[in-house]
Amino acid sequence: MDNSKVKYNFEYDRKLKICFIGAGGHSFRNVYPTFQYAPVDLAAICDINGERAAAFARQFGARNHYTDHLEMLERERPDAVFIVTSYHPDGRVQATDLALDVLKFGAHVWMEKPTAATTDEVRQLIDASNANNKYVMTGLKKIFFPAIEKVNQIISAPEFGQPSSIYIRYPQHMPPFAERSDLTRITSLVDHIFHPGSIIHYLMGKISHLSYEREPFNGGTVTNMRFVSGAIGTMHMTAGQSGASPLERLEVIGKGANVVVDNGVKVTYYRKAKPPEYGRSRSYMVDTESAPLHWEPEFSLGQLYNKNIFYLGYVPEVLHFCESVLGGEPPRKGTLEESLEILKLLEAYRNTPEGTVAVLNS
Ligand SMILES: NC(=O)c1ccc[n+]([C@@H]2O[C@H](COP(=O)([O-])OP(=O)(O)OC[C@H]3O[C@@H](n4cnc5c(N)ncnc54)[C@H](O)[C@@H]3O)[C@@H](O)[C@H]2O)c1
Repeated sequence: MDNSKVKYNFEYDRKLKICFIGAGGHSFRNVYPTFQYAPVDLAAICDINGERAAAFARQFGARNHYTDHLEMLERERPDAVFIVTSYHPDGRVQATDLALDVLKFGAHVWMEKPTAATTDEVRQLIDASNANNKYVMTGLKKIFFPAIEKVNQIISAPEFGQPSSIYIRYPQHMPPFAERSDLTRITSLVDHIFHPGSIIHYLMGKISHLSYEREPFNGGTVTNMRFVSGAIGTMHMTAGQSGASPLERLEVIGKGANVVVDNGVKVTYYRKAKPPEYGRSRSYMVDTESAPLHWEPEFSLGQLYNKNIFYLGYVPEVLHFCESVLGGEPPRKGTLEESLEILKLLEAYRNTPEGTVAVLNS
């Protein structure tokens, strides 16, 4: 887990010259603000809406703004391009085509999820990335949450034992099977599957096969999966839950130990412990040496870690990309190979009726 000291943008000696495609709501709230803490020189912004491109350039300190990304690439010659756009009318992901343009031009790509809508498109990106010798990283923010990184560290330690099962909950609606061949009917699923999908892959590795059941009232689902490692997992997509409820819960079981994350920030590690004797114990207290460990942020101080751009992984993911490019090493997280596995999961839901088995990796 990286808890190295955060530098402010103006303290960096070496920066990447970057351009940004997209001046929308998410990037305004969560991506441009990360540049305060990253080694980037924001040269130019492009949006097909010229007024927004100009307003964002003023707001975030870019020198130039454009309405045509090809013109921006040609004139600015950036080291890397950030892409945060939306969907084509046919449901395809705009950023996929834009990333291919950027790679052809010869710059590295950081793109928001979804990377693409199909495995074929990700394979196209993998080929273009290799052919042009440029990296593509997707902002899989969940695997940069300090809480999820902590779980990864805990379950990788020998004392946790082999991770044997996982439970993950995420509130997501799934349309009926007959509608799922039409991309325009599953935009929300394409948009969100990257969140639980990235955590599952980060913690448990590749899925071997799965099957699922869907309820017809809200489109909630329960999926059972077997991983290539031999471990098993359940994903509960809790469509229909209250709008006032926390969204997520995660639990990984090892051997005599388990770890739980609630609401993305609270981590409880139940370490190996001898249970109090059944029928004879007056107290539930276990020894301090084997007691559960619990972490949650304080929300009092003006610290970086209690800003959402840190605990929701946005600054860490952008830093990982910038440091990888500056160091000449491919990003290790948010890779196209991870996106490929997440889209295999999406395609399992698109191509396999409820109650039957989908094989993702044989
Ligand atoms: N990781 C997260 O937490 C998170 C949260 C919200 C949204 N997102 C993702 O962020 C993306 C954007 O979401 P949003 O809500 O900001 O969308 P948005 O529609 O507000 O913004 C998209 C912007 O891209 C611009 N655009 C589209 N095609 C373009 C092109 N060819 N050239 C230049 N500009 C172009 C549009 O004009 C628009 O201003 C989506 O992919 C969504 O999945 C991620």
